[in-house]
Amino acid sequence: MKKNSKEVNRRDFLKITSRFTAATIFIGLGGSELFAANHENHNEISIPTVTLNNGIKMPRLGFGTNTLVDAVGVRSVSEAISVGYRLIDTAHIYGNEAAVGEGIRLSGIDRKKLFVTSKLWVDFAGYEKTKKAFETSIKKLGVDYLDLYLIHRPRGDVKGSWQAMEELVAAGKIRAIGVSNFDPEQLKELMSYAKIVPAINQIETNVFLQESILYPFLKGSATQMEAWSPLAAGRSGIFSNPTLAAIGKKYEKSIAQVCLRWHYQRGVIAIPRSSQKAHMIENLNIFDFELTASDMQTIASMDINTTQFPEWK
Ligand SMILES: NC(=O)c1ccc[n+]([C@@H]2O[C@H](COP(=O)([O-])OP(=O)(O)OC[C@H]3O[C@@H](n4cnc5c(N)ncnc54)[C@H](OP(=O)(O)O)[C@@H]3O)[C@@H](O)[C@H]2O)c1
Repeated sequence: MKKNSKEVNRRDFLKITSRFTAATIFIGLGGSELFAANHENHNEISIPTVTLNNGIKMPRLGFGTNTLVDAVGVRSVSEAISVGYRLIDTAHIYGNEAAVGEGIRLSGIDRKKLFVTSKLWVDFAGYEKTKKAFETSIKKLGVDYLDLYLIHRPRGDVKGSWQAMEELVAAGKIRAIGVSNFDPEQLKELMSYAKIVPAINQIETNVFLQESILYPFLKGSATQMEAWSPLAAGRSGIFSNPTLAAIGKKYEKSIAQVCLRWHYQRGVIAIPRSSQKAHMIENLNIFDFELTASDMQTIASMDINTTQFPEWK
């Protein structure tokens, strides 16, 4: 399915966002601070961070948990933390917040060293329901605050949800709030009443769906782009793609590493999922090589502007 390529009035959006960003710090990507993580083999893995529009730091590479439920979820999250991940992405709809919480506790790491994201499902849109859904999520996770809470999809009473989330920030229960799957028009609508500028827009993006409108739009705003399905969920033959394999060969890197490095060089946060420890480690090892401008151009030509999940539209 082709993505909607509606023209965007970027100037209007920026006009609105500037009212709110004046009082916030937006340092952008490339912050020098790192999320230092002690590898279980005692090597230090340092994941670069981005400073969000409210000044808080977020790792630029994290761990996705969709479909990792029950015992697999517990083990995967604990292993991911043990090999160096500090950003963990979950959601009510994944049905694994309790498992993710258990994985965090099993890892033995101080919760404050982690960056935990969850998301508000569409059934709980609206002021009151959002407050309750948030409490349920943190209870299942066994934490007393979230680093990031996202509106999962732009459905229902987004305004009521956003107001509730702003109040949860003020109450010290959430460090940053954002959205997911919002197009520029939906962001503009949110910005017409928001007191807090969304820190993040988490969207599907990968080599086959490069978001040629939303990507530059977010680049020019105070909202950081985060990639879901950064590896195209393993679909469309991505792990046997000859173009990506040829690029990887030059650096002795895998296709997954080429893709994740590509996101990193575009300034997009990626949250690859894996249930396999070897893949988790592989996906972290992207900070010791650099794609050339020509590699980046070759990958740009792979864009077919196509979702891997037409059934979700
Ligand atoms: N906001 C939203 O609407 C939304 C929607 C979907 C997903 N998300 C989030 O984004 C996260 C990532 O997206 P995703 O889970 O759809 O897919 P993904 O991370 O793009 O791909 C995951 C697939 O890639 C495989 N894989 C991972 N590393 C690999 C490697 N080094 N070599 C070979 N295969 C590898 C995994 O299999 P193995 O387990 O065998 O490694 C798995 O099948 C989710 O888990 C979730 O947290 C958000």
